[in-house]
Amino acid sequence: MTLLEIKNLKKIYTARFSNQQTEALAAVNFSVEEGELVSIMGESGSGKTTLLNIISTLDDATSGEVYLDGNPLSKIKNKEISAFRRNTLGFVFQDFNLLDNFTIKDNILLPLVLSKTPLAEMESRLMPIVRNLGIESHIDKFPYEVSGGQKQRVAVARALITQPKIILADEPTGALDSKASQNLMEILGGINESGQTILMVTHSTRAASFSKRVLFIRDGAVYHEIYRGDQSADEFMDRISDSLKVLSSRGERDE
Ligand SMILES: Nc1ncnc2c1ncn2[C@@H]1O[C@H](COP(=O)(O)OP(=O)(O)OP(=O)(O)O)[C@@H](O)[C@H]1O
Ligand SMILES: [Mg+2]
Repeated sequence: MTLLEIKNLKKIYTARFSNQQTEALAAVNFSVEEGELVSIMGESGSGKTTLLNIISTLDDATSGEVYLDGNPLSKIKNKEISAFRRNTLGFVFQDFNLLDNFTIKDNILLPLVLSKTPLAEMESRLMPIVRNLGIESHIDKFPYEVSGGQKQRVAVARALITQPKIILADEPTGALDSKASQNLMEILGGINESGQTILMVTHSTRAASFSKRVLFIRDGAVYHEIYRGDQSADEFMDRISDSLKVLSSRGERDE
């Protein structure tokens, strides 16, 4: 079943103090099926973050529409938007976005606190998630007391705690070393195996090789996509690299 559908999405930024316009997205079209792990790749400035911000309802499109479960996001009323974001979407950012003076546990529970979830329900959701992510012994610490890889696992726990329809991740391994990146991608891969839909932006071919499908964007549009199929992660990684080379050089489709 299709969970997320992006139709003719266009975004033009207008500079605040001049009339200069930047077309970040020209016409983006794609959809994500329930249970998929999809990566989006593309050169710096190709519009990946813009796309994710519009899907996240953090920014508005100039035209086009994003549908989640068939419902257009632009129709959500302003006063409902933050609850929608909190309850339906899970976010993971490159720089973790944890609150420094909250414990790990309170960081993870924050979305549930904001939606006034009963304490017993919060507690019962917390332990299975932190155990699965291997951070159960850190929950009473503060973010500055744990490693980058652990911080990102806390961010994943915070994303999962609301049982979102989709997790949106912008460069989740961008601030991690290769070992922590590998660990995080194994975790995200496992979470996806258990049914969680994940849409991720990444510059890393290794991280992308964990996905079932990779979309390449260029000039504000989806220009190419490849499916992993039965290939191993290593084989898929080679194909991703090849596609990126084509993307940045001749710019012709290598089918
Ligand atoms: N708030 C903004 N105002 C004006 N222009 C913007 C704004 N945000 C992004 N842009 C421009 O839109 C284009 C797409 O930017 P975006 O951040 O989406 O790229 P990206 O693919 O995420 O790049 P990176 O890989 O470096 O993160 C760029 O030309 C950028 O300069
Ligand atoms: Mg970006």
